[in-house]
Amino acid sequence: MATWSNLNLQDSASPLMEQLAFFHDHTLLIIIMITMLVGYLMATLFSNKFTNRLLLEGQTIEIIWTILPAITLVFIALPSLRLLYLLDEISDPSITMKSIGHQWYWSYEYSDFFNVEFDSYMTPYHEMPKNGFRLLDVDNRIVLPMLSQIRILVTATDVLHSWTVPSLGVKIDATPGRLNQTSFFMNRPGLFYGQCSEICGANHSFMPITIESIPSNMFINLIKNMNN
Ligand code: CUA
Repeated sequence: MATWSNLNLQDSASPLMEQLAFFHDHTLLIIIMITMLVGYLMATLFSNKFTNRLLLEGQTIEIIWTILPAITLVFIALPSLRLLYLLDEISDPSITMKSIGHQWYWSYEYSDFFNVEFDSYMTPYHEMPKNGFRLLDVDNRIVLPMLSQIRILVTATDVLHSWTVPSLGVKIDATPGRLNQTSFFMNRPGLFYGQCSEICGANHSFMPITIESIPSNMFINLIKNMNN
């Protein structure tokens, strides 16, 4: 979960988010190197005497300052494409969950077992426990097993929403009339929070997502007891 003055990405809870964090750091280092080089060159322009009134062209320097940025871009583009295709992969999921965006709440369906369906509303401040997380907790949380590949099917009933959980590296649009799919794998137990990230109207900020990640034997017990 995001906490005070955290300017970095949240701690990852899935292998894909870990890869996204690595890619972020990799790209940030490249940006820092470029900024430092350009900043140094601009600063030295104040004091150096590198001027030539008659200079009109320079083939060598132009080849260098065209090829070098092109190579730099390849070092960003190739890892980016690798991630893009990794994120798109649905690797033989053991559970499918459906998530439907409404103005302004999410509803969920687990149609793998007994057609479980429920709405998930944000807990209002006056109903929140003292140690609760304001604007992030919901009345009915999504409970899912850790260490299992989970597929989510995402859609909406009214306007565009976006089902987004930063620590899992999931961000997928909920679009009326379309069914989007993505998947994730939670590598630790805990509570993972997310929020809608498509501007969807007045209460856009108040339709959070809460996932309870639990060991799979506990999840199986939960499903077993659901029938009674
Ligand atoms: Cu739903 Cu913003």
